[in-house]
Amino acid sequence: MILHDSFEINENGRLSIAGHDAVDLAAKFGTPAFIIDEEKIRSVCRKYREAFSELFGGESRPVYAGKALCFTDLYRVMREEKMAADCVSSGELATALKAGFPMRDVFFHGNNKTDDDIRYAISSGVGYFVADGEEELIAIDREAKNAGITQKILLRITPGIDPHTHKKIITGNVDSKFGSAISTGRASEITALAMSLGNIELSGFHCHVGSQIFEPDPFCDAAAIMMKFIAEMKKEHGYAGTILNLGGGFGVRYTEDDPIISYRDNIKAIASTVNEAAKRFLIDPPTVLMEPGRSIVAAAGATLYTVGSVKEIPGFRNYVSIDGGMTDNPRYTLYGSKYTVINASRASLPADFEITLAGRCCESGDLIAEGVRIAKPERGDVIAVLVTGAYNYSMASNYNRVPRPPVIMIGKNGPRVAVRRETREDITALDE
Ligand code: LLP
Repeated sequence: MILHDSFEINENGRLSIAGHDAVDLAAKFGTPAFIIDEEKIRSVCRKYREAFSELFGGESRPVYAGKALCFTDLYRVMREEKMAADCVSSGELATALKAGFPMRDVFFHGNNKTDDDIRYAISSGVGYFVADGEEELIAIDREAKNAGITQKILLRITPGIDPHTHKKIITGNVDSKFGSAISTGRASEITALAMSLGNIELSGFHCHVGSQIFEPDPFCDAAAIMMKFIAEMKKEHGYAGTILNLGGGFGVRYTEDDPIISYRDNIKAIASTVNEAAKRFLIDPPTVLMEPGRSIVAAAGATLYTVGSVKEIPGFRNYVSIDGGMTDNPRYTLYGSKYTVINASRASLPADFEITLAGRCCESGDLIAEGVRIAKPERGDVIAVLVTGAYNYSMASNYNRVPRPPVIMIGKNGPRVAVRRETREDITALDE
């Protein structure tokens, strides 16, 4: 096993993904290609669901954050796994609709939903809006009235937690494009407004502290602050909602330097914070939702590329250029994110050749990794970048008019094309 159970070295000395030889997959589907282990995703969904029903009970459940990876076939998997879904745009809503996903289980996010988004979401029967602020509340209320419905919403609140220092920053929460801060009193005002609007039902509150977080502490801190806030809103405004959505954010192991964590243990710690706070503040334990994205899909994915050139610059570095790059994985360019890279064609040979993995965009910053070691490749070798299931395909672009790679799902019946490769015709299809 390499990092996660989907990745292994097979008897031919090559990388296998979900039991399929990566070099064969590359030959069959072409490169670059995103390969996704469907069974791995299903098993993580089940673990989340079991942990939620055991540790929180009641209606508490995980909500898959589709921004991490979103296409119709995946939403069908999410539907079968009885996940709820968090959608952040009308495009993600359209994907859920196309998959036949039950829209009552969808939470519609975003800090600036347009009137058109709001109308589309209401007409598609979305379960909940996660409303960001005053203008949006008024617009949702108006559109719900026009549609003759009462729209359920959660209010996005900023509890003021810095997930990386674990400090509660009392002023830090004011400076966010998302939601309303508790510390300024804005969260209380917006709660009163939501309760006063005739076509809105305030079902609860939402917060999100950050992403790629390994420890439970920031979530527990947020949960404690939100529970106190719920108790205050009950006292101040007679608020009677039941939902507390704590957002996404559990971390994923990208390289061997990242820790191995148990999501169940984290959820357990959060559940005991919530239950303890319910006792302390004399309120009922809420229905708890969380919105994992990365931790559900990242470890199920790998990207396959073909090596074009190996350029050794003595005294400097070795560039290995591949047939993809920042157009399919912008995360190194954007965040300096570290990945595990492997020469899938020579996976059992010593990884003793230090490389910079370079993309093919006309931009020197188009790199996928620097200072990683792989078995020395030749033109034609297949390179795999592991743990690319989250925020790769969903963040891919057509920069330099590069067509996006396909998504290949490996299910019980073997690999299938879930999203086909873009063609040059697709690239010019919208041009008038
Ligand atoms: N819920 C909300 C409200 C969020 O903003 C996010 C992520 C999630 C759930 C899912 O979080 P996750 O479990 O995936 O960490 N593009 C960045 C990540 C941005 C995350 C934004 N919000 C990256 O590639 O690392």
